[in-house]
Amino acid sequence: MMIRSQSYCFRGIITISFFFFLNPLPNTFASPTRPLCRHDQRDALLELKKVFPSHTLNDDLVTTLSWNKSVDCCSWGGVTCDDMLGEVISLKLQSYSTANTSLNSTSGLFKLHHLRHLDLSDCSLHGEIPSSIGNLSRLTYLDLSFNQFIGEIPPSIGNLNQLRYLSLWSNDFRGNIPTSMANFTKLSDLNLKGNQFTGGDIILANLTSLSELDLSFNHFKSSLSVDLSRLQNLERFIGNENSFFGPFPSSLLMISSLKMISLDRNHLEGPLVFGNMSSSSKLRSLDVSYNKFGGLIPTSLSKLQSLYSVDLSHNNFVGQVPRSISSLVDLSSLDLSYNKLEGEIPYLLWRSSTLWSLKLSHNIFSSFNKPVEVVDGASIRELNLGSNSLQVPFPQWICKLKDLWALDLSNNRFTGSIPQCLKNSTSLSELRLQNNSLSGFIPDVFINLTDLRSLDVSHNNLVGKLPRSLIHCKLMRLLNVDGNKINDTFPFWLGSLEILKVLVLRSNAFHGPVYNPTEYIGFRGLRIINIATNNFFGSLSQDYFANWTQMYMVWSNEDSPESDSMGDDSHMYEDSIDLVYKGVETDFTRIFQAFKAIDFSGNRFRGHIPGSIGELSELRFLNLSGNAFTGNIPPSLANITNLEALDLSRNNLSGEIPQGLGKLSFLSYINFSHNHLQGFVPQTTQFQSQKCSSFMGNSGLFGLEKICKENHVNVPVLTSQPPKESLPDPKEPVLNWIAAAIAFGPGVFCGLVLGHIFTSYKHEWFIAR
Ligand SMILES: *[C@@H]1O[C@H](CO)[C@@H](O)[C@H](O)[C@H]1NC(C)=O
Ligand SMILES: *[C@@H]1O[C@H](CO)[C@@H](O)[C@H](O)[C@H]1NC(C)=O
Ligand SMILES: *[C@@H]1O[C@H](CO)[C@@H](O)[C@H](O)[C@H]1NC(C)=O
Ligand SMILES: *[C@@H]1O[C@H](CO)[C@@H](O)[C@H](O)[C@H]1NC(C)=O
Ligand SMILES: *[C@@H]1O[C@H](CO)[C@@H](O)[C@H](O)[C@H]1NC(C)=O
Ligand SMILES: *[C@@H]1O[C@H](CO)[C@@H](O)[C@H](O)[C@H]1NC(C)=O
Ligand SMILES: *[C@@H]1O[C@H](CO)[C@@H](O)[C@H](O)[C@H]1NC(C)=O
Ligand SMILES: *[C@@H]1O[C@H](CO)[C@@H](O)[C@H](O)[C@H]1NC(C)=O
Ligand SMILES: *[C@@H]1O[C@H](CO)[C@@H](O)[C@H](O)[C@H]1NC(C)=O
Ligand SMILES: *[C@@H]1O[C@H](CO)[C@@H](O)[C@H](O)[C@H]1NC(C)=O
Ligand SMILES: *[C@@H]1O[C@H](CO)[C@@H](O)[C@H](O)[C@H]1NC(C)=O
Ligand SMILES: *[C@@H]1O[C@H](CO)[C@@H](O)[C@H](O)[C@H]1NC(C)=O
Repeated sequence: MMIRSQSYCFRGIITISFFFFLNPLPNTFASPTRPLCRHDQRDALLELKKVFPSHTLNDDLVTTLSWNKSVDCCSWGGVTCDDMLGEVISLKLQSYSTANTSLNSTSGLFKLHHLRHLDLSDCSLHGEIPSSIGNLSRLTYLDLSFNQFIGEIPPSIGNLNQLRYLSLWSNDFRGNIPTSMANFTKLSDLNLKGNQFTGGDIILANLTSLSELDLSFNHFKSSLSVDLSRLQNLERFIGNENSFFGPFPSSLLMISSLKMISLDRNHLEGPLVFGNMSSSSKLRSLDVSYNKFGGLIPTSLSKLQSLYSVDLSHNNFVGQVPRSISSLVDLSSLDLSYNKLEGEIPYLLWRSSTLWSLKLSHNIFSSFNKPVEVVDGASIRELNLGSNSLQVPFPQWICKLKDLWALDLSNNRFTGSIPQCLKNSTSLSELRLQNNSLSGFIPDVFINLTDLRSLDVSHNNLVGKLPRSLIHCKLMRLLNVDGNKINDTFPFWLGSLEILKVLVLRSNAFHGPVYNPTEYIGFRGLRIINIATNNFFGSLSQDYFANWTQMYMVWSNEDSPESDSMGDDSHMYEDSIDLVYKGVETDFTRIFQAFKAIDFSGNRFRGHIPGSIGELSELRFLNLSGNAFTGNIPPSLANITNLEALDLSRNNLSGEIPQGLGKLSFLSYINFSHNHLQGFVPQTTQFQSQKCSSFMGNSGLFGLEKICKENHVNVPVLTSQPPKESLPDPKEPVLNWIAAAIAFGPGVFCGLVLGHIFTSYKHEWFIAR
């Protein structure tokens, strides 16, 4: 719940600024026939001024500075009077952030009985609303949004039966919507978003003038079984992020004016039964994602002919997609992902000239309806067929989708080669083909795909070299070819891609040196590099890591050094954001930006570990294991203050463990086993809480009594031979590793993009030994 409200707050903030923009303040000074203010009204205002102290705000906002007894109160800022009677009829003090007070029953506010329009939004008001609110019975407009109000709404609010607009958005109200609000027969716009209401929604059926209804981000726990069909003016029904349960409230579909139903993230269940529907439905948007609906997708969906956006994702729908869905001629966005849909993907979908985004991932679709015909003008930009059971050759017709922007075919069983004709899809920005059975070369088409930001072809059977045309992808942020059979030298030539953040060449047949005195290394934007399990060799210069500036850049929200040049990552990590939303993480961007990792393990590097590694002060994860590094562990490692996991095992390192490493307080996983290390192991908690096996296979390490005492009687540390059972107990190191990954992210929140780089890493880490 907390996480929810945090993400909500974030949206709220965005909306606030937008809100001001839409609500320019009235110029109360301009009225030519200004009435004289009634004294009782003036005195009530002056009383109110005590809790809205004068102060200078941003020029655009009203302040009580002008509230001066010697001036007619009808000309005070934020105040409007009735032309004839001099009664205050409108008071607008929004964003009066220094008010920071509560409204008690004797507040001057409640003496302004003639008020019709009251806006106290975003005034840092708090406490309960006193029952005297019922005195303002002439109000037609009441905005109390974005304050820290608590408690239940007093029943006396039922007196305000002239209300047309009521917003309590973003407060902390709880309890039920008071029954007395059934009196609000003129109410057209009701916004209760972002509170803690739990019930009382039964009265909604009485609000027959409603046009906009927003109940989202509350704790409503009811079955929504009330008949809403009498709300014949309703246009938007927004109830997402609650605990509504039971069947779909089909009475909504009898409202012909309705344009939007948003009920995502509730506990609705059963089959999606639409029942009687208005024959002239104007419904544009239907979102019931993240519920527990099951059964078939109803064919009657196609009767809602105005549908533009449909989101049925994250439910338990089964069976085939009804073909009739193709008759929704305005459909622009269709999300059926995360269900149990099977069979054919209806071909008519590609024929639409309106469909913009199609997401069918995480189902069990097994084939395309044949023949696939793509019409000229097919407009799909985002096509996600990932994580299905598609066992067919790479679909060539995809090349006809000329506007394609994001293509995800990952986690299927696509076979054959990646076609050359992809060069026709010149708008491609993201291409995710990982975890298939694709073979052949990566086609040399990238001279035409200059917008590409992310290319993931990992875990296929691709051979040959990295296509040199990748150098044209100047916007590239992620390149992942993990787990193929690519036979190439180190791509120094990619070093000029200044914003490449993630480079994964792991588990291929790459070979040769990664350092060449005549080559400029580049890769200034790198945050994650994994070249493990290849055939790289040679030594690294002492300054090898010195130019990887992003690895020591501390990321801050305001002045992210690359926030301008790097542009917007939001789409690239959309799936991850989804996970965030589900409550795993709140501040995704920050954590992603913070995660920096280097994995050079399982190659044949020799010589000294470059001392410049110590300059990468933001590094979280360093693995140089399984090489032939010699010499001492560089003391500069002690400068990587954020280091979480350090694996230097299975090298030829000698000398002592630098005592400074003992100070690395985030270090939760250490492995120094199978080297020639000597001397005392640091006696700090980080070291003393490691497994004994992390130090075994070193001839001269001391101070391991505590670490090794619980484990074995034969202290394995004393032998330089790898013990027979050198495979460590899988549980603990894995947990450590996972802990590091969870704490800093990719394993959890970068689900699609980064997740498997390190998740599979976790898995294979042991298989490799
Ligand atoms: C009120 O206005 C009068 C005349 O404009 C001015 O002399 C006086 O200082 C003002 N009082 C306050 C409290 O601003
Ligand atoms: C508002 O007042 C409360 C005490 O009533 C205080 O703790 C809080 O810091 C104040 N907030 C601001 C923004 O002044
Ligand atoms: C109401 O608030 C005013 C000003 O904040 C205060 O002077 C008064 O004592 C309060 N009255 C009650 C009943 O709390
Ligand atoms: C509100 O109305 C009640 C009676 O309707 C009256 O007794 C009370 O004084 C009023 N409160 C204010 C603040 O005007
Ligand atoms: C509903 O409004 C009527 C006036 O139209 C008023 O008499 C009645 O008290 C109100 N009901 C509630 C529960 O406030
Ligand atoms: C609300 O509607 C129900 C019928 O739907 C009616 O019985 C009830 O009197 C209404 N309540 C008010 C306060 O209008
Ligand atoms: C559906 O509509 C038919 C005909 O308009 C009507 O007879 C029937 O009662 C309606 N059913 C419901 C559940 O409203
Ligand atoms: C790719 O584009 C070329 C020229 O624009 C066209 O001749 C060819 O048919 C297209 N290929 C595919 C598979 O659409
Ligand atoms: C691909 O790029 C080359 C070189 O810029 C150009 O000649 C060719 O027309 C492009 N092909 C497509 C399909 O855009
Ligand atoms: C890589 O290619 C070279 C020839 O370019 C070949 O000699 C070598 O055997 C290949 N390595 C692997 C692992 O396939
Ligand atoms: C680091 O960059 C400088 C120029 O900015 C260059 O002279 C130097 O060779 C680079 N170092 C490495 C190891 O690439
Ligand atoms: C750690 O960094 C500081 C400041 O950059 C530097 O003076 C010191 O020599 C470094 N320590 C090691 C062991 O490299």
